Formats: sequence, structure tokens, C-alpha cells
Amino acid sequence: MPLLEGKGVTKYFGGLAALKDVDFEIEEGEIVGLIGPNGSGKTTLLNCISGVLVPTSGRIYFLGQDITGLKPHKICKLGIGRTFQIPRPFMNMTVLENAMVCTDGDRERALEAVRHVNLEEKINVLAKTLTFHERRRLEIARALAVNPKIILLDEVAAGLNPKEIVEFTGLIRKIRDELGITILWVEHVMKAIMTTAERIIVLNKGTKITEGTPKEVAENPEVIEAYLGEEYKID
Ligand SMILES: Nc1ncnc2c1ncn2[C@@H]1O[C@H](COP(=O)(O)OP(=O)(O)O)[C@@H](O)[C@H]1O
Ligand SMILES: [Mg+2]
Repeated sequence: MPLLEGKGVTKYFGGLAALKDVDFEIEEGEIVGLIGPNGSGKTTLLNCISGVLVPTSGRIYFLGQDITGLKPHKICKLGIGRTFQIPRPFMNMTVLENAMVCTDGDRERALEAVRHVNLEEKINVLAKTLTFHERRRLEIARALAVNPKIILLDEVAAGLNPKEIVEFTGLIRKIRDELGITILWVEHVMKAIMTTAERIIVLNKGTKITEGTPKEVAENPEVIEAYLGEEYKID
């Protein structure tokens, strides 16, 4: 049984199909990338999985259980953590308090999550004083604090410099390798996602056009045409 499975996931906003009949399976322990042009439905898919949006049709299963349409806090409690494309920590709360929002006040679990992203020296600092890179790490800590089996990451490498990107991909790999947490990662920064994910799913205009290893996807003519262009090559 896959850890997470989508069958025919479809989401309309008025007349616009943001997702059309998307099927996917994610096995426990995988790092899966989700890529595609702007507006292709990536964030909408994360929102449907995490309960922020209810799909118009189709089902989503977590460990075999149908979670379609459950409220976000229920889905979170089942073991699905997420980050948001635009980080929104509580600016006037400390790092630790921000992490504790996701643990129902469990200080130890929040501390552990903060340690995993190497922010322990900043636990008593207000979120608004963090650098951009540190805010991104706090987002990950908040996703980890729910004690997840899987985390959904939305463009966590955007805006980072090359050195920070290397640190970040290392952190994400460590979360999977050491904590055993499965990862579904939406990303535009190709050198981050293509070197970290084992499998890539490609969306275009709400439709899954292909999936495969980073190399397979990077060589797929339809993906090159829709998204990557000719310049991206994997050795
Ligand atoms: N809440 C919403 N209301 C109306 N349209 C939306 C909403 N969210 C997303 N869309 C539209 O759905 C499409 C997919 O958006 P999105 O999932 O954010 O794409 P991506 O994350 O791949 O850039 C876009 O055309 C976007 O404008
Ligand atoms: Mg998006």
C-alpha cells in the first residue's frame, strides 16, 4: 500500500480546471519532486492533500484511509505536515513558540523539531528577526513538529543563494534518511530538486504529463517543451 495516493484528483475554480484527473502514488521513504510551470496546479495539489482545499472530484488516501475533504487539523494529526509557499510565521512569537503552535503546547517535541533544522540557538528569538533562510528553516521545523510521516514542501529553496541551497538539500535528505520522513517537494530550483528527489512528477496545465527519475524527466521532450527548455541537462 502506498503511503499517499491520489486517484483522479480534480479541482475546479469556477470554470478553470487547476487539476484534471491527477493520479499519483507515494511510497514510504521516498523523496518525490513535483515540478511544472507556474499555474500548473502544484500548490493546488498540496492544498488538496493537506485539506486546505477540497477536490471537486477524485479521492486522496493516506495509508489506505480516505482523507478527502477532512479538515486540515485532522489531516495534520494523521501525520501530514506541510510548509507554505509564502512562509507565515507568527512574527511576534519566538521560534520555539512558533513550533509549539503545531504541537498543542508540547515543548519537547517543538524543541526537537527546531533542533533538526539547526535553529536551537535561536529558540528565544522573535520570528521577525530571523533571516530569510532561517524563516525557511522555521517553516520546516513547524512541518516536523506535527510528528509527520510525510511532509509537503512548497518551493522551500526559492530565493536562497547557492550555498544555502546546498545546505537546504542536505537538510531535506537528512530528514528523510535520519527521521524516515517521506517527502513530497514542489520546487522550481532545478538543481535542488533534480539532485535530491528520486522520482519526479510533472504537471502541466493541471494534468500529470509524466513521472520518472530526474534523468528520465529531464530527457522527456514533452517536459522540455512545457517547462525545462533545452538548457537543463543531467549527466
Ligand atoms: N484559490 C484560488 N482561486 C482561484 N483560482 C486559483 C486559486 N488557487 C489557484 N488558482 C488557479 O489555479 C491554477 C493553479 O494554481 P497553483 O496551484 O497555485 O499553481 P502552481 O503552484 O503550479 O504555480 C492557476 O491558474 C491559479 O491562478
Ligand atoms: Mg505554487
